Amino acid sequence: MNDNSPVLPRRTAVAGTVAVCGLASACARYGGPNTPQPDTIAGEDTGGGATGDVLGLASDVPVGGGTVFRDREIVVTQPSEGVFRGFSALCTHQGCVVTGVADGTINCDCHNSKFGVGDGAVLAGPAPEPLAAQQVSVTADGKLVTGGAPPDTTAQTTEPPAETTEQTTTEPAPPPLASTSDIPVGGGTVFADQEIVITQPTRGDIRCFSAVCTHQGCLVSTVAGGTINCDCHGSKFAIADGSVTAGPAPEPLGEREILVEDGRISLP
Ligand code: FES
Ligand code: FES
Repeated sequence: MNDNSPVLPRRTAVAGTVAVCGLASACARYGGPNTPQPDTIAGEDTGGGATGDVLGLASDVPVGGGTVFRDREIVVTQPSEGVFRGFSALCTHQGCVVTGVADGTINCDCHNSKFGVGDGAVLAGPAPEPLAAQQVSVTADGKLVTGGAPPDTTAQTTEPPAETTEQTTTEPAPPPLASTSDIPVGGGTVFADQEIVITQPTRGDIRCFSAVCTHQGCLVSTVAGGTINCDCHGSKFAIADGSVTAGPAPEPLGEREILVEDGRISLP
């Protein structure tokens, strides 16, 4: 493998098991777009019956249009009154987060792809595939939540929760992602499936960053010439710390947690 290592194919994020940081102090916990996050909407709760994360109020999603929840990388549409649809907000062209919903389509301004609000189908532009469907639902008090319909809490009993003492404790070790020898010294490798880029600025110094460009959310393309490069609009990031060295990106790439053990690199 060399500095121009190809971007590996993208797929659903890998579920983590044991969280142990094998890096220098700069590590941060990895959380991809499919990683459930705690409810982070200030002042909101899950209404006592929601099964997922609260996105906002269903009433804020316009009929015939939709709303992009950039933080969650979800777009929710309301093609007709009371019918809500959820889609991944990651454009299937080069991974930008879609820009907005207007004139009846979900629009990605990176290269002008457009998707239907009803089914996420490609209506225009270079995107090769529809937006992936994501389940969303509306709680009894009108909140949009990720996942399926919240449980009916009107018939709650006073029974204690089921015993959970038989939990499995023999999680298999995560499969290695690569060997440290696979990562070019002075360069790095983009792992598109996991949306991370692993670098090795100097021999034995393995670092990991988000591969999602902080400009408009494209996946970075390559590690070459001593920088991590996003070909969407030419941003470049330093392999040592992810800082911006060129281009329109406003912020460094976020650091991500990985495990490095016996020369093998894996996700926690
Ligand atoms: S049109 Fe969306 S990333 Fe190119
Ligand atoms: S998305 Fe614009 S430079 Fe990366």
